[in-house]
Order: sequence, then C-alpha cells, then structure tokens
Amino acid sequence: MTVFNPLPVSSRVARSFGRAAQHYDRHARFQRDVADQLAARISVTEVEDMLDLGSGTGYCAQRLQPRYPDANVTSLDISTAMLAHARQQATGAGQHWVCGDAQTLPFRDSSFDLVVSSLTLQWCASPERCFTELHRILKPGGQAWVSTLAEHTLEELRASWAAVDDYVHVNSFLTLPAIEAAAQCAPFATITVENRRDRYFYESLSALAKELKGIGANNLNDGQASGLTGKRKLQQLKSAFEMNHIAGKGIPVTYDLVFIALEKP
Ligand SMILES: C[S@@+](CC[C@H](N)C(=O)[O-])C[C@H]1O[C@@H](n2cnc3c(N)ncnc32)[C@H](O)[C@@H]1O
Repeated sequence: MTVFNPLPVSSRVARSFGRAAQHYDRHARFQRDVADQLAARISVTEVEDMLDLGSGTGYCAQRLQPRYPDANVTSLDISTAMLAHARQQATGAGQHWVCGDAQTLPFRDSSFDLVVSSLTLQWCASPERCFTELHRILKPGGQAWVSTLAEHTLEELRASWAAVDDYVHVNSFLTLPAIEAAAQCAPFATITVENRRDRYFYESLSALAKELKGIGANNLNDGQASGLTGKRKLQQLKSAFEMNHIAGKGIPVTYDLVFIALEKP
C-alpha cells in the first residue's frame, strides 16, 4: 500500500524550518514536551551509534546524551540552518551533523543501534519511505522511536477556518491507520503504536499563530488562498476560534500524538 501524505516538497519544508532556526527553541514548548515523553519511553540500554532524525536544534540528542555518554551521535535534518544552530549549541564529543532527507537517508545499511525522531515524520511526503529507510539503516536488533501527529491535530483551528472560507489554511495530518500502514511497509520484528490526544491551551488565536510561526510550522499544503487574508476574515476567524475559550484555562487545541517503537529483527 502506498501512503501518500498531501504535503509539500522537502525544499519548502527546509526553507520554512530554516527561517525559524534562530527562534525555534523559544517557541517549542509543545515540541519539548513531546521529545521528553518520547525519551522517557526509550528502553534501549546499550548504544554505540545513535541517530536523531529531523533533529531541528538538537534537543533530542542533547536530552539522550547523558544516557549514552559513549555513543556516536549523528543529527540529521533537511535544514542546514537548523543543523548550524544545533551544532553551535552542542556540547560533548562524538557528534556529527548531516544534512539530508529522512526519505532517502545518506547512511549505509545497518548503521545505527538507536534512531530517535520527534515530530518530523508528519513533514515527510512519504512516511512509507521513511519507515523503509529506518529499517534499512538500523542494525539487526536496533530500535527506532518515533513521535508524530495524526489527523485530529489542530482540529479547532481547522474548524474555525472552515467557518470563514473553503481554502486550506492548516496542514493536514495522516489518519492513525495510514501511519500504521506506512510502518508496516517495512519488515520490522515489532511495531508498537500508542495514540493519545492532548489538549494545550492558548490565551488567543495570535498566541497559537505566533507559536506555529515561531517553530517554522507554516501551512505548506496545496489549496491555499493566494494573497493576504483580509481584516474581516481574520476577525471572523478570531471570533470562531476564541468562542471555545474555557474560563481559567484558555482556548483548547488538540494534538493527536502518536508514539511508535520499531525493532529490526
Ligand atoms: C517540528 S521540528 C522537530 C525538531 C526536533 N526533533 C524537536 O523535537 O525539537 C521538525 C524538524 O524536521 C525537519 N524535517 C522536516 N522534513 C524533513 C525531512 N524530510 N528529512 C529530514 N528532516 C526533516 C525540519 O527541518 C525540522 O527541523
């Protein structure tokens, strides 16, 4: 089965994240939470070669380094600006930075004991190719731990835009079965999938927009309106979104989280 994610070509993704590299960390509260949750799930003890796939500013590698102090750590990202930022912040020896695409990895077969990849898969047009590549570059017995987002993510924002016009304003995400099907394209010994919907609260529409823009998560789907959105439409959007405000909490936004653990035979 071919799983096709209607997302944009990698160069647009690279540009979008590259522009955010300098301020990504300031806006990445959700990404930090998810990376921490992913790291807490990893049960591998012996690691010689580790890959942080879609490393961004390098948080996952930094977070795991104390657990595997002797490991060679490679960080791969499609954005050179993200990698440059990660490199500046890195401490410790045995680290490498590689610019590349998760869908065609520039590594030999059986190179890594552990691959960690947090919130990158949803930016790849072919998750199927990512999983096949993960399988190829893992050593026998190696594990990959992946976090990604599924279809209900940002549904409140999508619904608010739907009250305004018919254009695509919010990135779309794959369904859980489609993500599972993509993982099953490669002959892993085990595939464990955990799905959880979390709600984060925002004080306003602009707070959410600032966060998404701050980390480089711009809408890159086809079907966008051309030109700027007028004042009247923005006001309509704000009203529709902020109508969901819960006293004492803020405006809820759903993140449909998926954690995947894969082991190569
Ligand atoms: C939301 S950020 C997550 C960064 C980091 N893993 C974290 O948890 O903070 C997504 C990252 O994936 C990278 N990315 C997107 N598509 C990619 C691809 N096809 N191959 C490699 N990296 C990609 C982006 O450049 C960006 O740095």
